[in-house]
Amino acid sequence: MNLINKILVAPAAVLALWAATAQATTDEAIAERLKPVGEVCVMGEECKGVGAVAAVSGGGARTGDDIIAKYCGACHTPGILGAPKIGDTAAWKARADKEGGLDGLLAKAISGINAMPPKGTCGDCSDDELHAAIEKMSGL
Ligand code: HEC
Repeated sequence: MNLINKILVAPAAVLALWAATAQATTDEAIAERLKPVGEVCVMGEECKGVGAVAAVSGGGARTGDDIIAKYCGACHTPGILGAPKIGDTAAWKARADKEGGLDGLLAKAISGINAMPPKGTCGDCSDDELHAAIEKMSGL
């Protein structure tokens, strides 16, 4: 390697190192800034943020409508992934007949079925709350 090359290579290495460090700093800074709003609720796991909000918004059992608005509606309003739509009583009835009534549906809602996550993502829902939501969505 001749002298000219050595002179060119050294700053390039420094520059590369600097670029990598600068990138890392930026990523961390972005992560730090996103933290308060960026906490993600993973499907099927209890969502602590949502639970905290629910706790703040007042104790007592939530109504079926509350649960649907917060959890079930995300999938059951548009009927994504084959979810029976809210108000499509025929679709719900067919399922209820298969599972042995609303209690059978409740059991499936608690355990989860295919793309339907356990408890429909409402990790802190009581059986009664889930039952109320199912009754309301199905019209049964
Ligand atoms: C992430 C999307 C999603 C959410 C959120 C969701 N569901 Fe579902 N649900 C589904 C899908 C998809 C199905 C159809 C599953 C299948 O049969 O393959 C389903 C099916 C059901 C069934 C029928 C089960 C059966 O045995 O046929 C019940 C009951 C139900 N959901 C209740 C609820 C309740 C109550 C909530 C809210 C607490 C909820 N779901 C939230 C996606 C969801």
